[in-house]
Amino acid sequence: MRSIKRIFIFSSGGDCPGLNQVLFHLYKMFVQRKIEVYVIYNGLAGIIDPKNVKKLTYDEVHSHFGKSGTFLGSVRDTVTSKKDGELFVDHPLIVQIDSAFHRYKFDAGLFTGGNGSMASMYHVSKYTGMPMIGIPKTIDGDVPFTNFSLGFSSASEYLIQEINRLRSTSHSHGTIHCIQAMGRDAGHLALHAGFSAAATAVLIPEISFDYQELKDCLLARISMSESGRACPILVVSEGVQKLPEDVDNPKYANMGAARYVSVKLTELGLSHVKYSVPGHSQRGAEPTYYDYKRAAIFAVEAVKRLLSGETNVMLSYEGDHVSSVPFEDIMQADTKMVSKRSTLLKYAIDSGIYIGDVS
Ligand code: F6P
Repeated sequence: MRSIKRIFIFSSGGDCPGLNQVLFHLYKMFVQRKIEVYVIYNGLAGIIDPKNVKKLTYDEVHSHFGKSGTFLGSVRDTVTSKKDGELFVDHPLIVQIDSAFHRYKFDAGLFTGGNGSMASMYHVSKYTGMPMIGIPKTIDGDVPFTNFSLGFSSASEYLIQEINRLRSTSHSHGTIHCIQAMGRDAGHLALHAGFSAAATAVLIPEISFDYQELKDCLLARISMSESGRACPILVVSEGVQKLPEDVDNPKYANMGAARYVSVKLTELGLSHVKYSVPGHSQRGAEPTYYDYKRAAIFAVEAVKRLLSGETNVMLSYEGDHVSSVPFEDIMQADTKMVSKRSTLLKYAIDSGIYIGDVS
């Protein structure tokens, strides 16, 4: 293994809570080991512009420790993209990145990213030979081969608080409220937050449901309340699709998932159905204890593994154990979706939450 004297760090993909924390831990551990730490602002492709490459200072990285987001700035993947389902690798960009690696005399790199970023770094490391380690992050909870990714706990906590705020106002007015959870195509965030916050229904893209059954379940909930103000809360994942017959209907054009569900329930005769879309606030949530703790553990493992010669892997955190998975495996794997056999899904159903057709 070549000796490591100078490393670079960058953030890749959408931001989330936990990133500034991992950057601080990485910085101090490398400096304690007399390794120079450089950062690349605005994702890996930022390296091409010298303005984006800087030797990191303690004061800068320390000043962001208690905040969400990433002070480095982040961009969605630029090295690879998908066109009509085909993966396109930007080879000229990788060549430019490679010459920048040589210019700055970097020995290795670390980054935070989701599955798309891990797949991109497979191509970058393969071409450049640069040793790299990736730390998984996503509020969507959809990175394969790891139970925990940075950001998911904080976004879930944020949604639970939002649900409780809606519960208060819904209770005053006897409304039904649909709240839209982020998560892209996967329902993990909606399921975890909805189950924990005792939602009446959780609608996720992985599971089909029936509007009449949903309505019946809401009416049953309302009838449980002596005052009639049971204020059912539905957590609707943003990936939930319109019914096929509504897709081209201009009446439903430009409607997000929660709004669409609220309109469909109103059409079925329910009144006072409201919707709310917290959106990117979920990504800017305060980091929770779990994200602080996991940021520290991921950093310790990343430094240890890099210095012992392990490279071109993503860290995987399952139970209390951290291991590593080659970028190549992540690249070949599908995005992690909610399984119909998931234990949490079963708990949610057993607790009386309406989910839909899980057969
Ligand atoms: O992947 C994280 C995420 O916040 C998703 O939940 C959401 O669908 C998407 O990013 C939003 O992306 P953008 O910030 O590009 O609008």
